[in-house]
Amino acid sequence: MRFDIAYLPGDGIGPEVCAEAARVMRATGNRFRHEFVFHEGLIGGAAIDATGTALTEEMFQTARKCDAILFGAVGGPRWDDVGGKIPSNRGLFRIRKELQLYANLRPVKAFKSLLNTTPLKPETIEGVDLIILRELIGGLYFAEPRKQWIEPEGRRAIDTMAYTEQEIARVVRAGFELARGRRKKLTSVDKSNVLQTSSLWRTVAIEVAADFPDVELQHLFVDACSMELIRNPRSFDVLVMDNTFGDILSDEASVLGGGLGMIPSASISGAPKGRVFGLYEPIHGTAPTIAGMDIANPLATILSAALLLRYSLGLVKEARVIEDAVETVLSRGYRTADIAGKGVAPIGTKEMGQLVAEAVLKPSKR
Ligand code: IPM
Ligand code: MG
Repeated sequence: MRFDIAYLPGDGIGPEVCAEAARVMRATGNRFRHEFVFHEGLIGGAAIDATGTALTEEMFQTARKCDAILFGAVGGPRWDDVGGKIPSNRGLFRIRKELQLYANLRPVKAFKSLLNTTPLKPETIEGVDLIILRELIGGLYFAEPRKQWIEPEGRRAIDTMAYTEQEIARVVRAGFELARGRRKKLTSVDKSNVLQTSSLWRTVAIEVAADFPDVELQHLFVDACSMELIRNPRSFDVLVMDNTFGDILSDEASVLGGGLGMIPSASISGAPKGRVFGLYEPIHGTAPTIAGMDIANPLATILSAALLLRYSLGLVKEARVIEDAVETVLSRGYRTADIAGKGVAPIGTKEMGQLVAEAVLKPSKR
């Protein structure tokens, strides 16, 4: 079958890690006889430099017509002063918002072969398998007013935290649906002892829970949750939270899965069902200090491509093959610098991508 993929690698290490994900997708296509047609475009700082906008209208229209978007990362010191004229993330935010990709799934799994390379004790993280479901198009990131201005007494700034009950209900519902297909536990994360938006969040979560009597609902304050995530991470199945808390806790939780270089994400409109449109990206950023050096870890983007196949193309078996290939390569001891640990000579971005692509084509019995 033929599939159309919008390919938006962005800035910094984005192009390097996306190239490896595309390589692995092509290998998967060769093995299973699918054709992936990549529609490449600029986004972020690269687009600002070339076109004066963080995403051209033309590319936006192309992307929305594709089956899915593979995205790298945007931003860098040249563009990232929020006071600046065109924020480099404006194109990404437009895609997330206009295409209503409100459910951002960030799965965190502890890979057996990486248990000894994280700063946490192996016995703490062994068996961790959780999903952070981050509300992606509301809250502090989007609500108005948001601005900086000058008053006689000095400079001031404001951001707005706002949520409607509908915005909360749909993402919490997606959380319940996800949990229903897994270990049937949903943790709703809020700060309802202080914030009005969080108080509404908790009320709505309890209301939605009535439709899911088979799923256990737990409420945790975000501060307590950040502690439990490293103290007792196996206690979590699906965690649902607002945009800001999800941004923060997913970076923290990434440590359980080997770090930022290992965690993929899917941004879709609700819980995955059948074939849905989505944007797939590693949760890490552009890492400008290591850009172009062939040392970035491409596995988060490769694993994002696996999610793309599973959720947007309906290629469930193929997605599994990519995930197995990643495990195989790790179990053979290959590591990029970020996950190398003591005494291991790291391999580069390209070599890691090649090894995973080879493992897709020549699967081994482990
Ligand atoms: C993420 C990133 C982005 C976000 C940045 C790059 C704007 O940190 O996807 O987690 O905060 O959403
Ligand atoms: Mg983040």
